Amino acid sequence: MSDDLITVSLEAVGDPTAEVYARLFAQFPDVEERFRRDTTGAIKAEMLTMVFDCLMNPAGPYQANVVRTERVNHDSSGAASEIFDRFFWIVRDACRERAGEAWTPATEAAWTAQIERILAASR
Ligand code: HEM
Repeated sequence: MSDDLITVSLEAVGDPTAEVYARLFAQFPDVEERFRRDTTGAIKAEMLTMVFDCLMNPAGPYQANVVRTERVNHDSSGAASEIFDRFFWIVRDACRERAGEAWTPATEAAWTAQIERILAASR
């Protein structure tokens, strides 16, 4: 199952927080300013944890609703929905970079399928 492959790949990834946000801020420089009040990193961690939770569990009603709700919340705080959706792909790219050889074509396919699934289910 694709979600099992994601769980296994995350063990090889470890903690990708630094790489994820480096990529986010490189792609969307204006966003960094909006994280300025996150001095402890708690908001960054919560965002990433939510994404992993959604990807590791099948896109059931709970995950789809969470993503749909956050997409609306983010729209009002300045992250348009195309940018919001990009975050999932940024997380994938950062995890691929960290996993190195442990990231197989099957891993890549599982991530892509699961991201497409959650995005489609949450629109
Ligand atoms: C590139 C896309 C994204 C940007 C630029 C972004 C930006 C932000 C910012 C600036 C905050 C802090 C808001 C504040 O000041 O209170 C935040 C909080 C948060 N984000 Fe994101 N976000 C993105 C994608 C996502 C995604 C995909 C998820 C989860 C599916 C998510 C989940 C959260 C959560 C749970 C919080 C903290 C609680 C909340 O405000 O709801 N974010 N995000």
